[in-house]
Amino acid sequence: MRLREEIKEKTGLESIGFEIIGDIAIVEFPKSHEIRGDIKERIAEIIRKYNPNVNVVVEKVEDVSGTYRVANHVLIKMWDRKELLEKLPKEFRSLSWEETLHVEYGVRCLLNINKTYFSSKLGFERKRIAEQVKEGEKILLLFAGTGIFGLVIAKKKNVRIDAVEINPYSCEYADRNLKINKLTDKIIIYCQDVKGFINQRDTLNYDRILMPAPKDAPAYLEKVVEKAKPNTIIHYYFFENISNIGEKSIKERFSHLPVKVSCYRKVGSIGTKTYRVVVDLIKV
Ligand SMILES: C[S@@+](CC[C@H](N)C(=O)[O-])C[C@H]1O[C@@H](n2cnc3c(N)ncnc32)[C@H](O)[C@@H]1O
Repeated sequence: MRLREEIKEKTGLESIGFEIIGDIAIVEFPKSHEIRGDIKERIAEIIRKYNPNVNVVVEKVEDVSGTYRVANHVLIKMWDRKELLEKLPKEFRSLSWEETLHVEYGVRCLLNINKTYFSSKLGFERKRIAEQVKEGEKILLLFAGTGIFGLVIAKKKNVRIDAVEINPYSCEYADRNLKINKLTDKIIIYCQDVKGFINQRDTLNYDRILMPAPKDAPAYLEKVVEKAKPNTIIHYYFFENISNIGEKSIKERFSHLPVKVSCYRKVGSIGTKTYRVVVDLIKV
């Protein structure tokens, strides 16, 4: 029997949201139901039966919000985490239930689900970009979070990355992640507002600029394009209604800027009509 079928059979619950980050399973219950604590615990046990690497099951009680784009979770059940902790250097082995180690394409990423943004669903997108990067590139990663985009790229390629992030907790985890992955010589973290970082520089002298923040990136695109050098590749993320996602409308959207649209793709959905979209732009 599969996970969702067993949850439905044993608890009567359908349509629960579900994501695994590191050894934490995040469950989102339908808002319309009041669910008893013992039922949540039973669900946690079923989840662990199907995902033996899960040691912590939490409930997402508030969706991402605010500048830092963090959600809020409460603990449902936790098991022994000895095996996970052994994957970490000794100095990082005391994890709270909110913290975990997510492993993606050989990169180890420490994060805190209540203090930092992280989505395991963007793993393919990070790999897609890392594969495009050429040896020796100079890269600017805006809205860096715990550094995961930069870590995946720098693990694969010989690059120099400047990473900018405003949330001091994310900067702290990004710093630990550089150490854990031995990438301190490839990535520099600037713990500051993207706005100040851009304004302080006359030009953005990079081969590639990543803007993986669909809510916040739109406010900075024009300035980034203006200051980027010709041929810079810009990976720009934004939210868009399904009716505006087509070759013609995407090209029109950027026609006022000195850029060429290289490609675009949907990288996730928010509800039924809104998508997270990435467009690869080239400054002309
Ligand atoms: C959607 S998250 C993406 C994080 C990361 N790129 C990832 O994929 O895991 C957006 C990030 O941008 C950061 N952020 C929001 N506004 C910012 C600003 N003005 N300057 C710097 N960072 C900002 C947030 O704190 C958050 O970590």
